[in-house]
Amino acid sequence: MSNISIIILAAGKGSRMKSTKPKVLHKISGYEMLYYSIKEAKKLSDDITVVLYHQAQLVELEMQKYYNDIKFVIQDHKNYPGTGGAVMNIDTKHDKVLVLNGDMPLIKSDELKKFSLIDADIVMSVIDMDDSCGYGRVVVENGEVVKIVEEKDASESEKEIKTVNAGIYLYSNNILQTYLPKLSNDNAQEEYYITDIVEFAKNDNKKIAPLYVSEENFKGVNSKYDLSVAEEIMQKRIKKEFMNAGVIMRLPDTIFIDSDVQIEGESIIENGVCLLNGAKIINSHIKANSVIEDSIIENSSIGPISRVRPKSVLIDTHIGNFVEIKKSTLKGVKAGHLSYLGDSEIDEGTNIGAGTITCNYDGKNKYKTIIGKNVFIGSDTQIVAPVVIEDNVLIAAGTTVNQDVKKGSLAISRTDMKTVEGFFDKFFKE
Ligand code: UD1
Ligand code: MG
Repeated sequence: MSNISIIILAAGKGSRMKSTKPKVLHKISGYEMLYYSIKEAKKLSDDITVVLYHQAQLVELEMQKYYNDIKFVIQDHKNYPGTGGAVMNIDTKHDKVLVLNGDMPLIKSDELKKFSLIDADIVMSVIDMDDSCGYGRVVVENGEVVKIVEEKDASESEKEIKTVNAGIYLYSNNILQTYLPKLSNDNAQEEYYITDIVEFAKNDNKKIAPLYVSEENFKGVNSKYDLSVAEEIMQKRIKKEFMNAGVIMRLPDTIFIDSDVQIEGESIIENGVCLLNGAKIINSHIKANSVIEDSIIENSSIGPISRVRPKSVLIDTHIGNFVEIKKSTLKGVKAGHLSYLGDSEIDEGTNIGAGTITCNYDGKNKYKTIIGKNVFIGSDTQIVAPVVIEDNVLIAAGTTVNQDVKKGSLAISRTDMKTVEGFFDKFFKE
């Protein structure tokens, strides 16, 4: 369906967010709200225009990281503020124009498709809500929309209306060209409202059809509370999809998963786990309260309470509690407790003792640690990188490894221990 153009409104300041960041750049499940609107719009249209104003350059730059084939225009916000001002003077390729608010990150392209199936001059999304607070109220008579009143302009009786404007409209270009010049800013916010088009069109006997949509998919985000509600809905969606694909989740409401994470095979994700930034989990068990970011975990078990930081690859590996891994590749390794392994490559059959630390940073640069096969590293070992420990090596507990260790060797650095007999009584009792 590429015979419609889509305009996404993203120029508003979002003052109710109480943030210096433009509203549409606030993130939900790892991506900016606007990222999702554009993603869904692209499934339906080859002509997408995003309207910007506040911090336009920043918003455009962020979106160009993902998309290179959409248009950005700057609203004449000074002279024509408001959602109506935002759609003025936009060239569209197709006759039908779908207008979306950029602060609706939960919309799905399947829902957007429904607009073009209705025969009317304007199709607009409406929701029947228990709590209509914050939305424009919609007057529907005999199945047609008659008027939209913004909350700030609504009378007490209009505020009682439970049917609200969800903020998505399908117009023909002709309707926009005819009525946009007629908008005025004679209202409580002194803005040009896109919603006023409806009343003008109604007076000319145009047909304005309501499309009843679900509150869940069309939620508008105006505050940080709304942001958290939208995030919760998206999290539920993400997790449901994984569980339906065979992933086991313990107490799923406590698990957080970014929208670009992949989980495959017979994986188990326990309570309190965070999977972030494109993490990929294959046939693995991620135990309670572990955090995994931008890493690949295959046939492995992680945690409880461990952290795998970006660019790590863990295959056939067991990571226990309080272990932090960063930018490291571990294959067939066991690291059961209390370790930091950074910028390292560790091979099959190697056992990392409790309290092993790779000292990868000298205050200026980062260095690599290479550990071969079947190496046994005793507890409380510091490995001062850059260093290479070859296969079949034994490192004694408490050793500071600050030079390469040859295949088959023992490495030990320890001061001799002394015992002083009778010292306890002498010290405490005399
Ligand atoms: C708007 C609707 C309201 C509806 C609600 C649904 C109007 C006048 N009101 O209200 O009826 O119930 O959405 O969520 O349209 N924007 C611009 N330029 C501007 C102002 C806003 O591009 O000058 C963009 C914003 O960035 C945002 C969208 O338009 O993405 C909606 O603006 P917002 O201020 O959130 O409108 P609401 O008050 O929510
Ligand atoms: Mg809004």
